[in-house]
Amino acid sequence: MCMTTRDTAMTHPHIRAFLFDLDGVITDTAEFHYLAWKKLAAEEGIPFSRGEADAMRGLSRRDSLRVLLNGRPVAEETAQSWMLRKNDYYLQMLEQLTPDSLLPGVRRLLSEARDAGIHLAVASASRNAHLVLDRLGVLPLFDAVGDGHSVVNPKPAPDLFLWTAGRLNANPRQAVIFEDARAGVDAALAGGFWVVGIGSAVTSERAHIHVSDLSDVTVTSIVRGLTVLSD
Ligand code: BG6
Ligand code: MG
Repeated sequence: MCMTTRDTAMTHPHIRAFLFDLDGVITDTAEFHYLAWKKLAAEEGIPFSRGEADAMRGLSRRDSLRVLLNGRPVAEETAQSWMLRKNDYYLQMLEQLTPDSLLPGVRRLLSEARDAGIHLAVASASRNAHLVLDRLGVLPLFDAVGDGHSVVNPKPAPDLFLWTAGRLNANPRQAVIFEDARAGVDAALAGGFWVVGIGSAVTSERAHIHVSDLSDVTVTSIVRGLTVLSD
């Protein structure tokens, strides 16, 4: 794993909470979202590529459809039925999900953070977040879950992170967001949070710390990385 930190000066962090995005951070359901949209797009004859799928990361179901349509007008009834169909495809794929589907390092990092007294939450745009966490067997590990039902304004607005951090009684400067999506990193920064960007869809220039995945990330490496920024 390669870890890079952004070169800025900030106040010394006292970290009380970790907020994890779900799809693409805790488990690879970002791939299922991609495959489900791809199936719908193929059936409707709409061009769809990996690049568009990356742009959809972190976006609500409605905003993802907007990316897919790329300005093509469709009636509201059609939009509703397409979103429902995509979700049906996605739900079928979720049947493959088991506790083994956690991404590398996630279970270890969660338990290490809990032992260090850090409060844990999921903050996901998905309306299926509880179902996914349940299938992964990790729902009881979290003190709070913010999902696609929790707030009106989706990412890149900071509302979901602020709502979820509030459930943990943590202010943004005491909380680290783990995100694989541009919209999520932007939401975290807009809310004044620390942010760890994960993977190739987000850039190390935007996130305070950037990692390729969570396999080697520890509580110490995060706090140390943020302290470097505070010096
Ligand atoms: C986000 C995903 O977590 O949830 C997006 O990154 C997805 O790709 C969004 O569109 C909404 O998910 P759902 O399950 O409510 O359609
Ligand atoms: Mg994500």
